[in-house]
Amino acid sequence: MKSTSVKELLSKSLLLQEVSVNGWVKTFRSNRFIALNDGSTLANIQCVVDFEKLDPALLKQINTGAALKVSGTLVESQGRGQSVEIQVSDIFVHGGSDPEKYPIQPKKHSLEFLREKAHLRIRTNTFAAVMRVRSALSFAIHQYFIENGFYNLHSPVITGSDAEGAGEMFRVTTLDGQEPPLNEDGSINFKEDFFGKETNLTVSGQLEAEAYAMALGKVYTFGPTFRAENSNTSRHLAEFWMVEPEVAFYDLDDNMDLAEDFIKKVIQYILKHCQEDLKFLEKRLLDEEKSKPQAERSAMPLIEKLKFVSENTFQRLTYTEAIDILRNSKPNKKKKFQYTIDEWGADLQSEHERYLVEKHFKCPVILFDYPAKIKAFYMRLNEDGKTVRAMDILFPGIGEIVGGSQREERLEVLREKMAALHIPEEELWWYLDLRKFGSAVHSGFGLGFERLVLFATGMGNIRDVIPFPRTPQNAEF
Ligand code: 4AD
Ligand code: MG
Repeated sequence: MKSTSVKELLSKSLLLQEVSVNGWVKTFRSNRFIALNDGSTLANIQCVVDFEKLDPALLKQINTGAALKVSGTLVESQGRGQSVEIQVSDIFVHGGSDPEKYPIQPKKHSLEFLREKAHLRIRTNTFAAVMRVRSALSFAIHQYFIENGFYNLHSPVITGSDAEGAGEMFRVTTLDGQEPPLNEDGSINFKEDFFGKETNLTVSGQLEAEAYAMALGKVYTFGPTFRAENSNTSRHLAEFWMVEPEVAFYDLDDNMDLAEDFIKKVIQYILKHCQEDLKFLEKRLLDEEKSKPQAERSAMPLIEKLKFVSENTFQRLTYTEAIDILRNSKPNKKKKFQYTIDEWGADLQSEHERYLVEKHFKCPVILFDYPAKIKAFYMRLNEDGKTVRAMDILFPGIGEIVGGSQREERLEVLREKMAALHIPEEELWWYLDLRKFGSAVHSGFGLGFERLVLFATGMGNIRDVIPFPRTPQNAEF
């Protein structure tokens, strides 16, 4: 008999039929009730065992964590808490599980504890729900772009350029089973790397996406990116996934329209397709927040917040307007400081971003026209000569979720900018070529995928929304 999924069993379409299902034991109560889960859905299927008919040796192997194939008849359940159950006729144990040693006990574990068990934490309801929502978001992203005429570009992971010019790169070395090549002073000779070239893991697929946009019109990349920043925060990873659309002939306004519409549509997708998991995550968050002071709790329950963001207009304002708001802000009584910013030109700190989003506007905010000095070399210079056509999208509870810009399409202006920042033209000769042969206005942005998953699931730490987090402390798995 072909096995079915727990999800299908719970849909009741197979009622009164002989079924069989594979999965892992969540709990086994009173030598009689097995709660089996196979990951297809949040809920378990209850399997009712007549233990008098079952081989005691087999019974012993049914422990939390064991993998089973259960066969029997699907019937309406008499008990409370589930609508159907399997009246078991046969059990096959794929693999047992030592109940003393299995780390995922049927009780509440802390997220910190589970982080140490990244290979097994996915067996908990919380992580299974998060990863199903993550998968749905990933699908919705591809669907959105493909339906809107974009082509998916697979940009390289190993690259010679530092797209952000921030120097936060992981170098690639070729060891070939040998020691790395050394300089006379004993330091590693990076010039010998990657068959004689200096290369690194990509920090962004943007520059390559620009080349493709200047031929295919609308493209997007969605892949892993790497930042060697040694920051240990709940919003940063050393390896994270980024979605980067790039569009020829789009200016900054088109770019902001695209980003806003895109985010709303992918959130609407999960509201439609992930109800069960979102409800579970909403309840998890409410329980977790009970112990927090009122001021630190979310203003809205998770699903209401997702609806709000997907239905309301994001507030757009320039960096300069934001600075004025911050200068005139009321002091934070509790923390005894004002959200003031010392001078025009300084980068916004996360408390400034939070003030704008959570206190002042109470909705997502798009800031644009930032000072050139605090943004990357490729952004288009405005007529004022001191701001660039940059935009960041700030989200409640998250901070920056998107960074993007209209790109500098004028060869001479780009050259001057690179010279001022000491970026050698030889490194980006091909990027300059794009400004020599059919250059045009174009724009794009990067959305940090894990920050979107954080927002969508209400989780508090970015390490809990990526399967195997890479942070300075964590690269074991
Ligand atoms: O603002 P960033 O650095 O922009 C770029 O890389 C551009 N090249 C994108 C583009 O225009 N195509 O990064 C974009 C987004 C940020 O807004 C943030 O959401 C996320 O990527 N991000 C990180 N997410 C997790 N961990 C990190 N260390 C991150 N650094 C950036
Ligand atoms: Mg940024």
